Parts: sequence; structure tokens; C-alpha cells
Amino acid sequence: MIERGENKEYLPIEGLAAFNKVTAELLFGADNPVIKQQRLATVQGLSGTGSLRLAGAFIERYFPGAKVLISSPTWGNHKNIFNDSRVPWSEYRYYDPKTVGLDFEGMIADIKAAPEGSFVLLHGCAHNPTGIDPTPEQWEKIADVIQEKNHIPFFDVAYQGFASGSLDTDAASVRLFAARGLELLVAQSYSKNLGLYAERIGAINVVCASSDAATRVKSQLKRIARPMYSNPPIHGARIVANVVGDPALFNEWKAEMEMMAGRIKGVRQKLYDNLTATDKSGKDWSFILKQIGMFSFTGLNKAQTENMTNKWHVYMTKDGRISLAGLSLAKCEYLSDAIIDSYHNVS
Ligand SMILES: Cc1ncc(COP(=O)(O)O)c(C=O)c1O
Repeated sequence: MIERGENKEYLPIEGLAAFNKVTAELLFGADNPVIKQQRLATVQGLSGTGSLRLAGAFIERYFPGAKVLISSPTWGNHKNIFNDSRVPWSEYRYYDPKTVGLDFEGMIADIKAAPEGSFVLLHGCAHNPTGIDPTPEQWEKIADVIQEKNHIPFFDVAYQGFASGSLDTDAASVRLFAARGLELLVAQSYSKNLGLYAERIGAINVVCASSDAATRVKSQLKRIARPMYSNPPIHGARIVANVVGDPALFNEWKAEMEMMAGRIKGVRQKLYDNLTATDKSGKDWSFILKQIGMFSFTGLNKAQTENMTNKWHVYMTKDGRISLAGLSLAKCEYLSDAIIDSYHNVS
């Protein structure tokens, strides 16, 4: 537990030790061999974005020419981050507009076809923007191909606990890969799950083959961070360390996350119920229920999203994504009417 008033000076380059300890434990579980065997290099970063950027600089410096494979579509900032890091990237198929689901065959084929030793960027849970996550069986198959091709998994975990309501469930994908003994990278963010948006709190974790390698990787990450921003912020790091380190606060946080995730699931259900009750066309709307997290891909195309805005005054991104976190139960019926009209009356 960090005491108030303690350490008003700069943090070390790698960040607050108590934060780095709990962030690794939240991600992997305290008993995970990667932690017990000290095979993990954890460095506090400037939230999710800054941690991804640090990893980008690390890849550019130590894996020259290696490619990062990014899902199509993905969070808008991924491409900017790797462009600015001077790391080449290409896309793998992810979203299938026909099913408003995962293009699993396409994803596997593209990961297989990539040059051996590529970094495969995966959203640990609650894929942004689609809300579509692989099933546990699909994660196993993704891990198989990555292993076969000697690729390096690179997870972006921006919604741990916010997707299912459970920190452990949302880290299952990362833990599955770690259990295979793979070397991997994980960028974490506390913007959403602890509401620390403006504090810029996150971490980059690199799982290595040995504790010796982890020590060296950590040292190199620090060499990159020092001229980039010198050291990370302390206030939010203390918030995370104190919340996780105090059993009463930790339980309160977990209960609140469960409530938030539960509310979003309730909104999904209500939207689905309204869509199926009103739409008589026989269209299958179950993709809404299969998606997870705060975002939902509605399957609406650009012209249809324009109808949503111009006729119904529903403002959404042109790729068809809506944020369920901003939707109340009372507005589900109106939204469902707008979606049905846009689907059937605009092509
Ligand atoms: C997939 C994904 N990665 C990373 C981030 C990074 O957010 P931040 O830099 O606020 O932690 C976000 C935020 O929206 C995100 O959706």
C-alpha cells in the first residue's frame, strides 16, 4: 500500500514498483509461472497508447524489418502508432460483413501467409471497433498458427474486466498464450476499467524465455523511454496500486466493473429484443448478443449510417459502430426502429 505524501519526486524510468507488480498480477494471475520464474519485463507506460508506442520503438530497434499484423478493421490509432514507430504493418482479415461476425478462416489464412517471425497484434478482449472476439476454441487455433509460424503475439488489452465483468475471464486469451511458453508482448490500459483516462496509466509487459532475457529487455525498454518521456506519471499509478492492494477497495472495483459490464449486456439484450420484435423480415440479429464490450458493429454501411444521422438524429461512426456505453435502456426502442429503417430502406 502506498502512503499519501510518499515520493513526490520523479518515478524511476520503469515506473512505480507497486504498480508494475499489481498490473502484471492482474494480467497473468499472481501464480503464473511467467511471474514466479521472473520471465516478465514490465514497464509502466503512458496508458495503452504510450505502451503500444514503446513496444513499437522496441520492435523497430531490435527486430528491424519485422512486420506487425493488424486486424481489419482495428482501433484507429494502431496504424498511426506503427507508422510513427517506422514499423511496417499489414492487415489480416477479421470482420465478415456477411455474418457481422469473425472471418476466422480469413484471419487464420492471413496469419499463416505472413512472413515468419511477424508480430501479430491481437485485441485481448472486447475487440474495438467490432465487439467481436474469438471463442476459446478459436483462440487455441490462433495460438497454433502463431506458434507454427514463429510469430510473436502482441496483445492490446484496453478493456480488462470491462468486457465480461471479470478481470480473469478477460485475460484468458493472454494467459492461454503464456501457458504455451511463448514469448509475447502485452500493452495494458487503465483508461476504461478504472476510469483513469487523463492520468495516462498503463504498462508494457514482455514475456521472455528466461529471467536473464527479461532483465535485458526491461533495461532496453528503459533506454527507449528515457529520451522519449523520461518517466511516467505517479498519481494514477498509485491509484491502481492502492485499489488493487487494499482488499476492500479491490472488491469494490470488481463489483463496479461487474455492474458496468452487466449494464452493457442488459442494453444488448434489450436492443436485440426490440429488433427481433419489430423487424418482421426474418433477419438474424443475434450478432448483437454475440458481441462483447462497449462497442457494437451494427453491420450498417456508410449510406445507412448517414440515414441514421440525417433522418433519426442518431450520431455514429461511418463504419457502423455504436457505443453501447452511451445507450440507455429507454432509448433502445428508438434505436432499433432507426436501425431497421436504415437496413431495409437504404442500400
Ligand atoms: C483497442 C484500444 N487500444 C488502446 C487504447 C488506448 O487508450 P489509452 O491510451 O487511453 O489507454 C484504446 C482506447 O480507446 C483502445 O480502444
